[in-house]
Amino acid sequence: MAYIIGIDVGTSGTKTVLFDETGKKIRSWTGEYPLYQPQNGWAEQDPEDWWQATLNGLRTVSEGIPAEEIRGIGLSGQMHGLVMLDAEGRVLRRSIIWCDQRTAEECVQLTNLVGADTLMNITKSPAVTGFTASKILWVRNHEPEIFERCRKILLPKDYIRYRLTGEFATDVSDASGMQLMDIAKRCWSDVVLDRIGLDKGLLGKLYESAEVTGGLTAGVAKQTGLSAGTIVVGGAGDNAASAIGCGVVRDGDAFTTIGTSGVVFAHTTELSVDPSGRIHSFCAAVPGSYHVMGVTQAAGLSLRWLRDTCCLEECQTAAKLNLDPYQVMDDEAARIPIGAEGLLYAPYLMGERTPHLDADIRGAFLGLSASHTRAHLIRAVMEGVTYSLRDCVEIFGGARVTVTDMKVCGGGSSSPLWRQMLADNMNCPVHTLQSNEGGALGAALLAAVGAGLYPSVEQACEAAVHPKITQEPIAANREPFDRVYAVYRTAYASIRQISHELVSLARS
Ligand code: XUL
Repeated sequence: MAYIIGIDVGTSGTKTVLFDETGKKIRSWTGEYPLYQPQNGWAEQDPEDWWQATLNGLRTVSEGIPAEEIRGIGLSGQMHGLVMLDAEGRVLRRSIIWCDQRTAEECVQLTNLVGADTLMNITKSPAVTGFTASKILWVRNHEPEIFERCRKILLPKDYIRYRLTGEFATDVSDASGMQLMDIAKRCWSDVVLDRIGLDKGLLGKLYESAEVTGGLTAGVAKQTGLSAGTIVVGGAGDNAASAIGCGVVRDGDAFTTIGTSGVVFAHTTELSVDPSGRIHSFCAAVPGSYHVMGVTQAAGLSLRWLRDTCCLEECQTAAKLNLDPYQVMDDEAARIPIGAEGLLYAPYLMGERTPHLDADIRGAFLGLSASHTRAHLIRAVMEGVTYSLRDCVEIFGGARVTVTDMKVCGGGSSSPLWRQMLADNMNCPVHTLQSNEGGALGAALLAAVGAGLYPSVEQACEAAVHPKITQEPIAANREPFDRVYAVYRTAYASIRQISHELVSLARS
């Protein structure tokens, strides 16, 4: 038997999954770790936590399996996080991760240094606070002594690769989110690097996602029980990896993730760009292909926040009935009609990316009245996140990317109510998948291709990815959703100034 391993370095934990060569999950282990928020809008993690979670994961999932039958390892990871290493390969500071919003000034600096048009033409995006380039400038501006000692810059999953193999490398899909690549040419951009004054030697070697980047070191083999030399492929950013795990590898295919953040992702053979940069256009994990992607910063995070701050009663009921609290919350929201009887939620708890690139926008409940109950709040949060995801699909249309079919993954995909909201708002069938392993499965399938078990990424997906439940749009729901969505679209402009003033008050 041949096995493959996918490691997904996520925000709440690192999940390591052992699959057989047909993509069947054999064993999975997740190690969780903290998110540090030393200031409003900041978000950091300790790369050592990712590594310990990976080591434990590898040991656990491979126990009892003959090491030579594990043919390859693929990495998937939260994108954009900045890991800086010194000359000895030691981590210089905690990683500033994707949802950190501290770099508004560095985005202005990046735009001035590179030129707005050049930045857009080469990286296919205006400067984004979440992306890595502005984080690098922030460290250079605010912690020059750390920047001076920095010899390597890696993304989260690529730090794990370094610990596994000793190689400094990344893949084109994840590196697209560093804002240092020429996306059309799939290479580092000398123009961007020269203009911001960053040495290319700081960056890892670029690979396509299914290419072999190195093998496990003898030391790691000893620590985990795996074979030295087991191949590690390029892998992909978590969204591009999830696309593979969802079988999104052809034009018209798309998927939505409702995880901590929410993502709407569509495969494109040709590079498609929204001229005002409201969606990301990145290299895909399928060699030579691209994808467009919109991001809602706080998707599952919004519902988790509501659960943790307001839904103690639902949590207690769930504990009594031995259910997941989200299931109880879902049942309550399902009893409230579309529009939550006049309550609207703007999901901007962590600033926003698509379609409003705004680090200082904040969330809001609008239309709150004394008649609203917790069930209304839950319903409004689920709808607000859905409208934000619908915003992404509307922009795809403007970039001439048509979505005909939507897969759904991430924690939020276990809610039938949320899936129906997606089908109704995106006006296409929405499918769950037999394997809910998204990024880890995608990473493992890339390893299967790298190991020669499949001739192409598309063929690996055909063999391993199968839909499970399909929900069609309900025609009668379309009009009520359209009416609320039209109001939702005006919410951002209404709360923008108040949000910005409150954020600056909180900072002062
Ligand atoms: C994508 C993004 C998030 C992270 C975290 O651009 O920022 O989806 O990858 O999962």
